[in-house]
Amino acid sequence: MRAMVFRAFGGPEVLEPADVPTPEPGPGEVRVRVQAASVNRLDIEFRQTGFGFAGPDFPFPHVGGADAAGIVDAVGAGVTSVRPGDRVVAFTFVACGRCAHCLARRPENTCLDYQLLGVHRWGGYAEYVVVPERNAVPLPEPVPFEQAACLPVSYVTAWHGLVNRCDVSPGDRVVVMGATSATGLAAVQVARARGARVVGVGRNPQKLERLAEYADGAVGLGEEGWPARVRDLLGGRATVLFDTLGTVTWERIHELVDRGARVAVCGRSSGAELQTNLLWLYRNVTSVFFYLSGQRRDLEALVASVERRVVVPVIDRVVPLEELAAAQRAVAEGETFGKVVVRV
Ligand SMILES: NC(=O)c1ccc[n+]([C@@H]2O[C@H](COP(=O)([O-])OP(=O)(O)OC[C@H]3O[C@@H](n4cnc5c(N)ncnc54)[C@H](OP(=O)(O)O)[C@@H]3O)[C@@H](O)[C@H]2O)c1
Ligand SMILES: [Zn+2]
Repeated sequence: MRAMVFRAFGGPEVLEPADVPTPEPGPGEVRVRVQAASVNRLDIEFRQTGFGFAGPDFPFPHVGGADAAGIVDAVGAGVTSVRPGDRVVAFTFVACGRCAHCLARRPENTCLDYQLLGVHRWGGYAEYVVVPERNAVPLPEPVPFEQAACLPVSYVTAWHGLVNRCDVSPGDRVVVMGATSATGLAAVQVARARGARVVGVGRNPQKLERLAEYADGAVGLGEEGWPARVRDLLGGRATVLFDTLGTVTWERIHELVDRGARVAVCGRSSGAELQTNLLWLYRNVTSVFFYLSGQRRDLEALVASVERRVVVPVIDRVVPLEELAAAQRAVAEGETFGKVVVRV
């Protein structure tokens, strides 16, 4: 099959087109003819360094791409929920199904032996991808493959934090830290779709202007006294904070959130070292949830929301697979607003 592969970790120049063996679906697995994939920080950081996921014996060549949507092409023994010809979107987080957490039916993103698509196994930057049956989520006809390919990483992360864990509802005041990122913008859209008032905080002034179309307010980290501006635009302290930034958020969090606030943390774009006022946070009964990815049911709920056009993923550009390196470079350099989709 045609694929974009890399044979060593490094910059976008390590990506090269190649003809590699088409994977066969094993028992309980599904092969998907990929129609669209997308670009995430995860894909870039993994290609760059292995991102702490790859040991010294990591098997190259590797096909990245944590997101994929397409048409089922073949199924392995025992597969019953999908069949060839079905449209599906792949859920990135592959739980083992066998560990103590999986057997106890804990949320699948707490699996002790998980894999991520495009990281621990070949992903969406190829003509075909093989996933466990449980990771093939049916995609109704009205949802275009390009929109579906935006969902599994960025939008699932937003949904899992805001809806599944924080239960954002009308009446909530939500601040999204790093709202100019693809994941932050997804969070703004999800919180809005849930009826909350939403203010996004980001860095790039041009992107903040565009963010104003989606949020009830957009605030620049460069503005003097920006936390007060967030409170003004929200009409009070935030009841929910969604964090993709890390360091800069935690320095100022006590100026942003309300007593009893819920905080969902999924990123560290400004740094992973936190200096914060712990006394303030516990006196004010703050719930903080750190997490990776989400659950299959988050993706199912998102597919339904996109079908009803309650959430419409923001797509910056659609590029052919052969232009993956340039597309990843554009995302890495912060030139994009919303998702970059790769057409396969
Ligand atoms: N836990 C999970 O499962 C999960 C899932 C998805 C993403 N994430 C994390 O969420 C974050 C965003 O990911 P993404 O794929 O959405 O990224 P992205 O679209 O590439 O956006 C990254 C953003 O980081 C901002 N940024 C970089 N350095 C900054 C700094 N020093 N101060 C403030 N802003 C800074 C940039 O803002 P400007 O454009 O305004 O300059 C850029 O928009 C990453 O940390 C990623 O690892 C985690
Ligand atoms: Zn498990």
